[in-house]
Amino acid sequence: MVYKRTHMCGELRISNVGENVVLNGWIQKRRNLGGLIFCDVRDKTGMTQVIFNDETSDELFALADTLRNEYVVGVKGKVVERESKNPEIETGDIEVIADELIIYSKSETPPIYIKDDDNVDDNLRLKYRYLDLRKKKMQDNLSFRAALTTLARNYYAEQGFTEVETPMLIKSTPEGARDYLVPSRINLGRFYALPQSPQTFKQLLMVGGTDRYFQIVKCFRDEDLRADRQPEFTQIDLEMSFVDVDDVIEIQEGFLKRVMKEMKGIDIETPFPRMTWEDAMTRYGSDKPDTRFGFELCDLTDKVKDCEFKVFTDAITAGGSVRGICVTGGSDIYTRKKIDKLTEAVKSYGAKGMVWIRKTQDGVTSSVNKFFTPEQLDDLADYMGAKAGDLMLLISDSNKVVFDSLGFLRRHIAGEMGLLDDNQFNFLWVVDFPLFEYDEKEDRWSAMHHPFTSPKAEHAELLKTDPHNCLANAYDIVLNGVELGGGSIRIHDQEMQEDMFKALNMTQEDINEKFGFLVEAFKYGAPPHGGLAYGLDRLVMLLTGEKSIREVIAFPKNQNAQCMVSEAPGLVDEAQLEELGIELKK
Ligand code: AMO
Repeated sequence: MVYKRTHMCGELRISNVGENVVLNGWIQKRRNLGGLIFCDVRDKTGMTQVIFNDETSDELFALADTLRNEYVVGVKGKVVERESKNPEIETGDIEVIADELIIYSKSETPPIYIKDDDNVDDNLRLKYRYLDLRKKKMQDNLSFRAALTTLARNYYAEQGFTEVETPMLIKSTPEGARDYLVPSRINLGRFYALPQSPQTFKQLLMVGGTDRYFQIVKCFRDEDLRADRQPEFTQIDLEMSFVDVDDVIEIQEGFLKRVMKEMKGIDIETPFPRMTWEDAMTRYGSDKPDTRFGFELCDLTDKVKDCEFKVFTDAITAGGSVRGICVTGGSDIYTRKKIDKLTEAVKSYGAKGMVWIRKTQDGVTSSVNKFFTPEQLDDLADYMGAKAGDLMLLISDSNKVVFDSLGFLRRHIAGEMGLLDDNQFNFLWVVDFPLFEYDEKEDRWSAMHHPFTSPKAEHAELLKTDPHNCLANAYDIVLNGVELGGGSIRIHDQEMQEDMFKALNMTQEDINEKFGFLVEAFKYGAPPHGGLAYGLDRLVMLLTGEKSIREVIAFPKNQNAQCMVSEAPGLVDEAQLEELGIELKK
């Protein structure tokens, strides 16, 4: 039997006093004070205090005395005003005097507490995710996510987008990460890939005349996990025909404006600022700059190119640069010990060391006093705009290492100094990405976005003559230093697509094998088109103020890409492998 509930556990208020109510939920806490039993009954909306007292029958009292944490119960009773109110909880003005109780199921002592701020080991939380999900914060996050996806569906439908499902068992997509492979039983020796994104299919939908496509879709990428990266994640994916960059951007700004208004009650100004990739890198050391605070990068290469310090001059001779950031008010905060920690941290970005300069009331001092005169140091500090109390941190290396290190430092330090305001939302478009990037490890050029991204109109000719200097019709939407989404205007012209493949050094065989079907489709009339995909998990993470996308995914993977609940990936039977024609190496 199930009691038909009249209210959720977080709903009752002083205005309900005198009503007979029915609640269903879990026992959060039970205390027996002799003749009086208090229990908190909880569901996803909150909890209500339920009382068994001297008016309770002996039988009911004895039953209530067997209640333990996480038992699932139904309670019937009368709402009364509390004598000692609890302002901490929304139902704190009332309690329910029980006159009936049913225990639906019992619980063993749970391995984790059902408490929002419980500091429990992550893997334990993930193993018992169904208990973790009972926390109000987790349920609120799931509800927030659901409301946001509903809003997205409504918005894009209003804008004429058609929701279309694309296949999950496909051939490799060109997104550049490693694929998850699925062996085919019917086609022995062949493999499907799980989509890294619906990229090729959404372009085929444009060739198919769908005009505006939209989908909330799972994507799979076998890459290293981070706070904002999961092996399976969700995109809000879209594509539009007969558009240019401004058209795609305008639709997105309308969406994000509505998201901020309806989900956060915040009016954000549109259009968002746009910054070129080049500016983003040189000013912030990152293609996803956090513009909530300063500490912009300063190029010191020219200033120090003739100095005595070989570390600097060697880096410059090798084609690199010397750049730094000025941490306003950082001198007192960053002791030698703390600076050593930062130096250690930038090593993971490839930096071999870090130079510091302090400006205090007494003058300028640094870790390279031996190589620079006080006047030279003064001059550098002035050039970086330093005032007394500021700390300057300098890196010299290849541009990549310099940008990565300083990009990390400015955000890390801003975090340590408490400058990252979760309630400030700085949306930013990063535009004019290079079309290609050089992959040092593989010693080859690859498409920075994917090989269907078009060059900027004024670089169409450059694609034939000096392709690696082309800028792309690509754009990323960035929020507070996180890449929320990215997209581009695609190539729809066959000749241009061939130039693109040529610039990537792809043979006809490569092309046919990887994208033959798309090239073939484009022979039959492809409309000009472009689109974008958002990382839904990241958007929800930022808007709920979470620090990891795991907090907004019901069943995320752990650091080792394992599902702790179901213990995937698991072993499979010999017979299953046999059927797939697979033999495992011992
Ligand atoms: P891109 O590869 O930039 O573009 O992906 C789009 C957005 O998806 C999110 N994202 C991720 N989120 C969580 N975990 C991951 N492992 C992960 N990888 C990506 C990011 C990112 O901005 N097909 C193109 C889009 C297009 O050109 O239209 C694409 O997938 O927020």
